[in-house]
Amino acid sequence: MNILLIGSGGREHALARKCADSPDTRIYAAPGNPGILQFAHAAHLGEKVLNASHHAEVVEFCEIAAIDLVIIGPEAPLASGLADDLRARNIAVFGPSRLAAQLESSKKFAKDFMQKHGIPTAQYRSFSVQQHAEAREYVANHPLPVVIKADGLAAGKGVSVATSHREALTALDAMFDGKFGAAGHSIVVEEFMQGEEASLFAISDGERFLTLASAQDHKRIGDGDTGENTGGMGAYAPAPLVTPEILHRTEERVIAPVLAAMKQEGMPFVGCLYAGLMIDAEGNPRVVEFNARFGDPETQVICSVLDGDLTKLLHSAALGNLDPSAVRNVASGVACCVVLAAGGYPGEVRKGDEITGIAEAEATGAFVFHAGTALHEEHGNKKLTTNGGRVLGVTARGENLQEAIKASYEAVSKIHFRGKTYRTDIGQKGLDTSK
Ligand code: AMP
Ligand code: GLY
Repeated sequence: MNILLIGSGGREHALARKCADSPDTRIYAAPGNPGILQFAHAAHLGEKVLNASHHAEVVEFCEIAAIDLVIIGPEAPLASGLADDLRARNIAVFGPSRLAAQLESSKKFAKDFMQKHGIPTAQYRSFSVQQHAEAREYVANHPLPVVIKADGLAAGKGVSVATSHREALTALDAMFDGKFGAAGHSIVVEEFMQGEEASLFAISDGERFLTLASAQDHKRIGDGDTGENTGGMGAYAPAPLVTPEILHRTEERVIAPVLAAMKQEGMPFVGCLYAGLMIDAEGNPRVVEFNARFGDPETQVICSVLDGDLTKLLHSAALGNLDPSAVRNVASGVACCVVLAAGGYPGEVRKGDEITGIAEAEATGAFVFHAGTALHEEHGNKKLTTNGGRVLGVTARGENLQEAIKASYEAVSKIHFRGKTYRTDIGQKGLDTSK
């Protein structure tokens, strides 16, 4: 099976590694990263590196390389309709159409859809930039905390949970004044939900689905969930918070009705439906957000505990004929991933600092996923350097969460680069829940 994998982050490294385990797979990556390229070939059109933002080039590559399955990692190509352009040429693709990806690319779409179909979520109102004054008045009278969200894609940074009206109004003004460009021309103001967060991924062929191991992300930069929001500083799976009963409720109240309604509205969701959940004290799930793709860094841990043939699962979904038997066990053991970020993240970061100690970290039994890394050749020597905000995802497995955490931090201690920044409490929430 020839696979084309679109993306260049830790999530795609995890997908490449797991798919490479399947029999007879040949993976091409566009553009990939140094870690992904240990499992995949860089996709080229002639001499030129394939540019995945040119859909026609992707189609041409798939036809030349006889690609059987395209897996789209990130949200941007989904929102721009890459899956549609591939399907139009009868190329099997794991990833939703542009319309179905609106569950992620427009918070207003997702909220209106959930309201219409009775999916549990926070109360909200949406406003366009033309309603700036009205939005200010609504926010000024909203109980606190209040949540303000830019409608469009903002790399996980377009959400403000404000504890004062002044903070809320500042966030609202910044969005309408263009802080997130067009993504902030429309906003959603919503009620703050109490509870514990978890991520649940459902692999769907547009109708049937299989949920993978639940996970917990750590979105804030600082220990104890303090400081700015990031793309995700670490994760573990499965999450003890998501008991079999809560999983069942989520499938019944969220995943199944969303997939059925998407199909009914003429935009079947084929791909990974990521439900970001808030679980209240009674164990009732409500949706914080949807993503139309695998999460990062959750995929690094979910794939590490998945026992089965991921290629077969994703291919069957792409063909509209989901084969859940491709997976023997969604959670064999527990995995923990600690993200090592560059100094300054989630703000401006330095690039080009040498990374050492990955072999030593992996000698402990951990696996190191690459995200923002680059290889430089100097006097015939290859040197790995930092090349982005989130640099590496150091991931280890254990029989239980405590072991997985201990093993991942032991591996973390072996890796060095200037400005190395990470949280020291990844997984702690899970230990607290299990008590
Ligand atoms: P999102 O990008 O929508 O996932 O939001 C980022 C983070 O903001 C979430 O992971 C939550 O921690 C927080 N958040 C978003 N919406 C709400 C809400 N309605 N109530 C409580 N926290 C929220
Ligand atoms: N881990 C959060 C995300 O992938 O959006």
